[in-house]
Amino acid sequence: MFILGIETSCDETAVGIVDHNGRQIANIVASQIGIHSSHGGIVPEIASRQHILDIREVTLSALKFGNIKLRDLSHIAVTYGPGLAGSLIVGLNFAKGLACSLGIPLIGVNHLEGHIYAAWINNDYFSPMPFQQIVDEQNKIMCLIVSGGHTEMVIMKGYGQFQIIGETRDDAVGEAFDKVARVLGLKYPGGPEIQKASNFSSKEIEPFPRSWINGTHDFSFSGIKTSVINRSKIFGFYPPNNRVLPDKDIQANFSKAFQDSVVDVLVKKTVNAAISYECKGIILVGGVAANTALRENLIALSPIPVSIPPIDLCTDNGAMIAMAGLYNLQLKKFSEMSLDVIPNLRIS
Ligand code: KG4
Ligand code: ZN
Repeated sequence: MFILGIETSCDETAVGIVDHNGRQIANIVASQIGIHSSHGGIVPEIASRQHILDIREVTLSALKFGNIKLRDLSHIAVTYGPGLAGSLIVGLNFAKGLACSLGIPLIGVNHLEGHIYAAWINNDYFSPMPFQQIVDEQNKIMCLIVSGGHTEMVIMKGYGQFQIIGETRDDAVGEAFDKVARVLGLKYPGGPEIQKASNFSSKEIEPFPRSWINGTHDFSFSGIKTSVINRSKIFGFYPPNNRVLPDKDIQANFSKAFQDSVVDVLVKKTVNAAISYECKGIILVGGVAANTALRENLIALSPIPVSIPPIDLCTDNGAMIAMAGLYNLQLKKFSEMSLDVIPNLRIS
């Protein structure tokens, strides 16, 4: 059994293949970062048009890499939401065409479930928690999904059973990284740039505020962004169009202070929630899970096991969609050919 997973919800045209054991056979990603970076963010129409140009080649590359023929495929899994409507439509229609012509089932996948199931790829015994093969009410897992569009704390109570217990009230954490990077004169996407710059921090500056929103598991990142902007004005490098670029020292020290603040809140709130819900493990996924400080701090602070996929499975990819497809098919969740995209799809 080989499941092909297609992901085009945002600015990556991605196709992956997993086998019936959840082993990754291929995972090819065509990133559009170079195309969008000069705009300082993603331009939806450019993104969907680029998906049209890339999707066939990316699919053929994945098949070639895995040494798989089209006729070897048993299922086509595809992201149908959440994401940019125009981008989702390209992947979904391509997937329908493939499933139809090969006469095999179509499996629609929630992008956020895809991020979560990335933690299952390539794991022995098919589980991200070495001791825990079962996920049920007694063996819950806390999932922190952190990406450019999402910041969600989700409890997994079983395969295909998710409950959002906290989410951002304004900016997604990746969005905050991207916006703050722009203020600091760093490139898009901002997350990796802020991480790189913070490694060169020479001194600790006054910390940026932490938004705890006590009594809830929700997050907020717009306050810290405003705080970075206000302090930037004092140094004279805001607004960005005035382009007095901050020097490398300021860039590094601001980046470190910003990253420290965000990581502190994400880690402490996630660990507290996991303990209060008596979870058996924590999974960290999504593009921002590529952040080294976040990975290291969560592992250091959590009293329960933490599972974090390798970086290429944290950022958007097709293998995670194929893996979610594998679980959906075990739950007999197949999709009709009339499946439509749902840009604001939630996880439940
Ligand atoms: O999951 P993803 O690839 O796409 C979405 O579904 O949004 O996440 C992209 C986000 C971007 O905001 C990017 O700045 C952030 O992940 N990111 C990082 C790092 N690498 C990527 N943020 C912090 N540190 C990183 N190392
Ligand atoms: Zn994503």
